[in-house]
Amino acid sequence: MSAGILGAGYYVPDKVLTNFDIEKLIDTSDEWIRTRTGISERRIAADSQSTSDLSIAAARSALSSAAVEPNDLDLIIVATCTPDFSMPATAAIVQAALNAKKAAAFDINAVCSGFSYALDVATNMINSGAYKKALVIGADVMSRTVDWTDRATCVLFGDGAGAVVLGDVEEGGVLGSVLGANGDGAMLLAKPIGTSQKPACDGITFPGGDKMYMNGKEVYKFAVHVMGEAAIQALDRCGLTSNDVDLFIPHQANIRIIESAAKRLDLSMDKVFVNVNRYGNTSAASIPIALAEAVEQGRVTKGSIVVTVGFGSGLTWGANVIRWTASE
Ligand code: ACO
Repeated sequence: MSAGILGAGYYVPDKVLTNFDIEKLIDTSDEWIRTRTGISERRIAADSQSTSDLSIAAARSALSSAAVEPNDLDLIIVATCTPDFSMPATAAIVQAALNAKKAAAFDINAVCSGFSYALDVATNMINSGAYKKALVIGADVMSRTVDWTDRATCVLFGDGAGAVVLGDVEEGGVLGSVLGANGDGAMLLAKPIGTSQKPACDGITFPGGDKMYMNGKEVYKFAVHVMGEAAIQALDRCGLTSNDVDLFIPHQANIRIIESAAKRLDLSMDKVFVNVNRYGNTSAASIPIALAEAVEQGRVTKGSIVVTVGFGSGLTWGANVIRWTASE
């Protein structure tokens, strides 16, 4: 027995913000955004919604697809860089809303790689024998963290949540993962204000202030390199190669980064899942939303080899190799 995915689900807010809508807010164009990023529109959380609300909706959808009751969960992990509060953990708020009374609950922050990290952590906790059923959520409300006057970043992001339920499976499951970090690049993509080092905005000179700052060019170079390498390393760890891959699910940040990773893996684009055009970069939610949509569309079936790769602020990266076990 080993840990595998029993079901997946997602939630995106109703409000659609198109490139044409953004043209009315800042000096940009639909043409620039589409050709540089592949994004046409993104979802924006309602004022009344926070990361826990999106997480709870995605969790309910994943639990229903897995046919698992909240009371059967003994672990809830939320990967997010936009938690409801600095404390308590968003996972605790989700635990209460689901009435999952037996579940331990904590958050992981590896930014856009958060889901890749959380999936590996939950897999190992189940494989240890100490936990039986885990809910792993990736959720972010990036619209509240971007600077809506900075055209170089605000056009890239959107809000959403995705979730999976993990439990023991007879064969297959999460076959292996690779996680990595390079903290030398920590400030290439950062929101520095609001916690222990810079608790308030007064006198702040660091670019970004209490909003996200990004050196797009450096992050782009890092992403192009790490996406393919992390996938190859993770496959190698499982005794597989890119020839074995049925579906590649990369972090949905930019179509050009996705295409270059596919090229590095020698995968044709029909084996690559893409929804960046509809949702933009939803950070930790991007991979689980894509995974749940792929299942919904019948692109992942029992036995499929799925490779996911995330990258993000930290700098961090993570890749998971999964032999799909859920029947849907
Ligand atoms: N609309 C119009 N023009 C723009 C916009 C915009 N929204 N943004 C920038 N420009 C301009 C720039 O000012 C620049 O003009 P200039 O030549 O007169 O100076 C020109 O367009 C080119 O800008 P570049 O930054 O060179 O554009 P580039 O092709 O590098 O694309 C982008 C920028 C899309 C941000 C790219 O660098 C990228 O995708 N980087 C990776 C970002 C990423 O994936 N981040 C997420 C990481 S995951 C996480 O942890 C959150």
